[in-house]
Amino acid sequence: MIHPTAIVSKKVKIGKNVYIGPFSFIQDNVVIEDNCKIFGFCNLYGCKIGKNTKIGPFVEIQKNVVIGEKCKIQSHSFICEGVKIGNGVFVGHGVIFINDKIPKAVDEKGRMITTEWKLLETIVEDFASIGSGAVILPVKIGRHALIGAGAVVTKSVPKHAIVYGVPAEIKGAICPCGNIIKEIKKEVKCDKCGRIIGVEDESYRG
Ligand SMILES: CC(C)(COP(=O)(O)OP(=O)(O)OC[C@H]1O[C@@H](n2cnc3c(N)ncnc32)[C@H](O)[C@@H]1OP(=O)(O)O)[C@@H](O)C(=O)NCCC(=O)NCCS
Ligand SMILES: [Zn+2]
Repeated sequence: MIHPTAIVSKKVKIGKNVYIGPFSFIQDNVVIEDNCKIFGFCNLYGCKIGKNTKIGPFVEIQKNVVIGEKCKIQSHSFICEGVKIGNGVFVGHGVIFINDKIPKAVDEKGRMITTEWKLLETIVEDFASIGSGAVILPVKIGRHALIGAGAVVTKSVPKHAIVYGVPAEIKGAICPCGNIIKEIKKEVKCDKCGRIIGVEDESYRG
């Protein structure tokens, strides 16, 4: 169901059983797969949203962003061009991604800068979670990693790592079962489910 106040351009491809909430603006060649819920006041252009994903209100998603299946993108987040998000990823409220490390409005001659800037990429791998208010510079976030609320992530995050702080540092590990392990070792055993979790070192940085 598309709310009558939503504006959806003709080029948009919408799957089965999709909900688009009030005052959302969905333009260009957006693809929204089956069973997605896009809440109100969202601004989406030129992006692809995988099956069963939920996008909360007041979210902006820019062109060429790809979001996988079964993700939860909470309200007020900004996902810019250059970001690729895997399956089963949680993005908390008010998360800001960054794709331009040296932003400028005008060049030396006072001309507005339009295309002359370097787009940097961010990859969020499957099942990672990003806490509310985190700022994500162009990095790779590994599978199952957990980013704490308010973190400023300046370096790539190994799979299963918990990072937080400004700048974010590795503080522990998280098991797919949800158990937090406070040790920082290359391999740790989950005391809840017995899995061995490998938190890789900085050689992971890409
Ligand atoms: C990062 C996080 C997973 C840490 O959980 P935890 O390992 O159980 O941490 P604890 O609560 O035991 O805290 C350990 C220490 O880290 C600090 N800390 C915890 N979270 C922090 C954060 N996000 N930023 C900075 N410091 C943090 C605590 O103050 C505590 O410090 P102390 O040892 O000096 O007292 C959790 O706090 C968090 O931020 N989760 C994200 C939640 C979120 O944003 N959800 C979104 C949907 S509502
Ligand atoms: Zn476990």
